[in-house]
Amino acid sequence: MGIRKKFDRLGAASTYGRRVAFALLAAFGVASCTRASTEQADSAGWPVIGGAYGETFYSPLDQITEANIERLGLAWYADLDTDRGQEANPIVVDGVIYVSTAWSKVYAYDAKTGEQVWRFDPEVPGEKGFDACCDVANRGVAAAGGKVFVGALDGRLIALDAKTGAVVWTAQTFDPKTPYTITGAPRIAKDKVIIGNGGAEYGVRGYVTAYDVETGEKAWRFYTVPGDPAAGPDGEASDAVMKEKAAPSWFGEWYKYGGGGTVWDAIVYDKDFDQILIGVGNGSPWNYRIRSDGKGDNLFLSSIVALDADSGAYKWHYQETPAESWDFTATQPIILADIAIDGEPRKVAMQAPKNGFFYVIDRSNGELATLPQPFVSVNWARGIDPKTGRPIVNEEAKWSAGNDENFVARPGAYGAHSWHPMAYSPDTGLVYIPTQDHMFGYQDEPGFRYHLGDWNLGNASPTNVGPASVEERQQAIDTVSASITAFDPVEQRTVWRVQHDGIGYGGILATGGNLIFQGEPNGMFSAYKASDGKKLWSFDGQSGAIAAAASYEIDGEQYVAVLAGFGGVVGIFSPYVKDPYVRPNGRLLVFKLDGTASLPHYEPPVVPFNPPAEEAPSSQVSLGAGLYAGHCMRCHGASAWSAGVIPDLRRSAILSSPEAWEQVVLHGGLSAQGMVGFGDKLSQEDAEAIRLYVGEQARAAEAVLAHTAE
Ligand code: HEC
Repeated sequence: MGIRKKFDRLGAASTYGRRVAFALLAAFGVASCTRASTEQADSAGWPVIGGAYGETFYSPLDQITEANIERLGLAWYADLDTDRGQEANPIVVDGVIYVSTAWSKVYAYDAKTGEQVWRFDPEVPGEKGFDACCDVANRGVAAAGGKVFVGALDGRLIALDAKTGAVVWTAQTFDPKTPYTITGAPRIAKDKVIIGNGGAEYGVRGYVTAYDVETGEKAWRFYTVPGDPAAGPDGEASDAVMKEKAAPSWFGEWYKYGGGGTVWDAIVYDKDFDQILIGVGNGSPWNYRIRSDGKGDNLFLSSIVALDADSGAYKWHYQETPAESWDFTATQPIILADIAIDGEPRKVAMQAPKNGFFYVIDRSNGELATLPQPFVSVNWARGIDPKTGRPIVNEEAKWSAGNDENFVARPGAYGAHSWHPMAYSPDTGLVYIPTQDHMFGYQDEPGFRYHLGDWNLGNASPTNVGPASVEERQQAIDTVSASITAFDPVEQRTVWRVQHDGIGYGGILATGGNLIFQGEPNGMFSAYKASDGKKLWSFDGQSGAIAAAASYEIDGEQYVAVLAGFGGVVGIFSPYVKDPYVRPNGRLLVFKLDGTASLPHYEPPVVPFNPPAEEAPSSQVSLGAGLYAGHCMRCHGASAWSAGVIPDLRRSAILSSPEAWEQVVLHGGLSAQGMVGFGDKLSQEDAEAIRLYVGEQARAAEAVLAHTAE
């Protein structure tokens, strides 16, 4: 993309301000508790996702520093067996590194040598991939009581023997035939393991469930949105609060569409208050008119909810986006920390959710500790009302309120920040947010019809169908960007940014060596100075690292470990990925000072476009375009322009063969690999129209290539 300043320093005065703040903290004797107080169990290890119970994604290890980073090299690497997106943060327990991968597999390696200790494959049926909106990803495992826990895409919560990988127990957390999925990591709270689920785009009702660590017996379940009033109470921990608070905030027939509110990522145990904080997702469908007659706050959508760790009973909530209508989840990672606000030490939860405002919440009562400010440009709300704590929503953003305008939101459904972990460094007092600046269209869909198991958004915006031409595509790419936003949670302001091209960048690790680490979609894994964002080091990992790294120490050496493997929603659907990143299978990459391992040479294969010989009639092509957008785009990319993770159909070897095409598209010839047959949804004529449309997209792409080569 065009020339963009790679490094954009916003606030030179901040360093001074920070030093003053630190001096003040020290004077009040609270400097030592700025680190997440919630059990830094083992400063050398990384026993839980995020490094410690506060999930700060900060390691105090300081052997690798800004002064010696050029000596950082690969210590070892391990090949994985899939090229789908890798989103997990590894954990390290007793010298063994455990990591989950796409398709919910788990690997254990000697953390020093890289020797594989065991491997577990839950053999998730490929067809289940159809229910995963945003890749067949898995964001990590938890360990307790000699066991390692993983949530499988098909709803199994599986306890494995940490030494052997043998299955100890399995709990089925939902009926695998329903369009729920698990991509999030389980979390441990004392003797319980807690797991959520995803699927709100398809029409489900969100909940979290706690199971006994030893036996797998269900302890409690908390629903995040009310069910069908005619069905009566659920007999679960959420019953009382559903009746008192949640149900009165819903109208219409939301229960027919599930209501949404899935807890697909953030779950964090808050030891200080013996409570579990969950981040609740978007509404189902997105359209607020269809979902709730355009009335009510729709609790607990887009909220952080605190639950009693023993009983699962409701304690408090803070709703970030009442009447959620933009896919503004509050599922983004939650960091617990003790920070000083106006000289007072406060126990806070911090979150940078999709809606673009930064929240610092008092964990004792769920109230705002500082007034949220945007960390990206925001056009859906003017700010947060300090009296009510509610966003002041712009009228034009209320897209389902009876106007038929197309509202182009900034940020949109990908979120100003999504699941990619942010990091909080107690050394700098800054939160490092992997930020996305992009647009997304929303327009009411008057003729909406609900289909369980398909995407049900109620959003008919033409904006998201994707650019039709190469020029439009370039324009679209030029309108988006990503950055590392270094944000001061106390002063609620951006201190500096590292500006990136395009979107699709990874989660962040901060370390005691004044460093932050982040992966890039093009395969680079880079380190920056935590104090000012200066880029210091890069390694070509060959496949984009979107997951966040971990850091641990063994025998006096500090290691940094990260999964490489481009994918996720941006890698599947996004019209904004610059080049389709052809890449090898995912890998676990582990670095240390003076590491000497190297990756084998990789030459991306060149796969030509494969248009059919004959040009297709335009009536069929336009029929195919509509069907493609409705059924295929969410996996194969807008305008048949794949971002590289799921095959680019314009290059498919079977694009010229109507018979082979029909075999795959209608009869499920590749269903074990995640490509279900659409025979129940599409006719033979439909499948053929899609083939002809994709064929013309291939012809157009080939013509552009020929033109560029001239
Ligand atoms: C839920 C995601 C998803 C959806 C939706 C989807 N596909 Fe696929 N498709 C896949 C995956 C994954 C593969 C790769 C399977 C493999 O590894 O062989 C694939 C492969 C294919 C292939 C074979 C490509 C090749 O040559 O390797 C064709 C053709 C295809 N899809 C057509 C379609 C059409 C047409 C639609 C819409 C009607 C569609 N797909 C919708 C996930 C999807």
